Amino acid sequence: MKKRRPLDTIIAELNYEESGVPSREVPCALIMNNGRKVLNAWEWMNLRRPEILDFYRNEVFGASPAMPETMSYEILNVKNDALDGRAIRKEIRISFFHQGSCRSWVMLLYIPKDAKGKVPVTVGLNFRGNHTTTAESDVIMTGKKCDGELVEDQRAAQCERWEFARIIDRGFASATVCYHDIFPDFATEEAWEQSIYGLLFPEKSPEELNEKFSAIGAWSWGLSRMLDVLSSEDKIDCSKVMVTGHSRLGKTALWAGANDPRFGVVVSNDSGHGGAALFRRCLGENIEVLVTNFPHWFVSGFDKYAGKDADLKFDQNFLLSLIAPRMLCIGSATEDLWADPKGEFLAGVHASEVYRLFGAEGMPAASHPAADVNVTGEISYHMRTGAHNILWQDWDHYLSAAETVFGRK
Ligand code: GCU
Repeated sequence: MKKRRPLDTIIAELNYEESGVPSREVPCALIMNNGRKVLNAWEWMNLRRPEILDFYRNEVFGASPAMPETMSYEILNVKNDALDGRAIRKEIRISFFHQGSCRSWVMLLYIPKDAKGKVPVTVGLNFRGNHTTTAESDVIMTGKKCDGELVEDQRAAQCERWEFARIIDRGFASATVCYHDIFPDFATEEAWEQSIYGLLFPEKSPEELNEKFSAIGAWSWGLSRMLDVLSSEDKIDCSKVMVTGHSRLGKTALWAGANDPRFGVVVSNDSGHGGAALFRRCLGENIEVLVTNFPHWFVSGFDKYAGKDADLKFDQNFLLSLIAPRMLCIGSATEDLWADPKGEFLAGVHASEVYRLFGAEGMPAASHPAADVNVTGEISYHMRTGAHNILWQDWDHYLSAAETVFGRK
């Protein structure tokens, strides 16, 4: 274990005032490692984008896990009158086999029942188990801690974050898996063992694995595997996929979007530092807090940047740029200073220079919009009045933005 300062001491030093933001230029994502600026979309895609992707793979979120020897899925059940008759509900077990061992997750899927033709789909991970995302009392309880206990045994506890009936009414299918089932979100040896990395590399220690891999890397890989399975659903149009995530799962959605171009719309809700927020503003959380509290989220080498937030050679506009020219939605909340709403917005403004190479505008606003004003472009933004959360107001904007790309119901 690396020696770290006590968390209380670090947190006591954090800045929440705009006046405490150091004045530092945001690095330009278009400047290649050799110092030359890319001139067009081709150079971006073929020269500069791979450099940034490699950087994040080596220094931040790690490499994607390789595919296990076998991946399979099994439809456990189908309910044809779910959500008051609006939806078809399926629960699908996704399993991975490697060298005689297995890991599996259950995906909860709702599909609009009255759909004529194929429908777009939202794909996202949940924090506390599939059974917490819906009021339907017969949904399988998922989300295990390492000791086999459920992370949350309270059904419907997170329903306000997953308003499936309203999502279905907008003409979208929606799929979710509990993130603990992919990598239990604990900085322990058991968590690494039970994760997808434990399946692939049973001989390696967590320290060895953490040099190359991370929990966020596992979760984002899991989102892509969900999409692989959704591709077999004949009612789902897998050319119209929106990946969503709140908070640490917003960081995860961004990294999934960076790695997998099948995600045509990428949603970062209150993702904060390590997600959409610019580190160099030093407002709210910082790298030292992240690597002290959640060392497993990043590769172990990421901690060399602790304390250097203001002077990094990269910043999170680089991560956002990896989504270009696909649609990117950034959501903040007024009370969520920990995640630095303005820093989330500004990273989107700076990522726009990459969108412009594609003849797109990117973020259609130069100054931070007032609360509850939706800005919709290839990069969309809003700041909801209220606390750190994902609520229908947020979903409503993301779905509207996605409809501009996928078409309306
Ligand atoms: C903590 C963490 C954040 C993270 C959040 C969450 O607050 O510091 O970086 O986004 O948890 O995932 O809820």
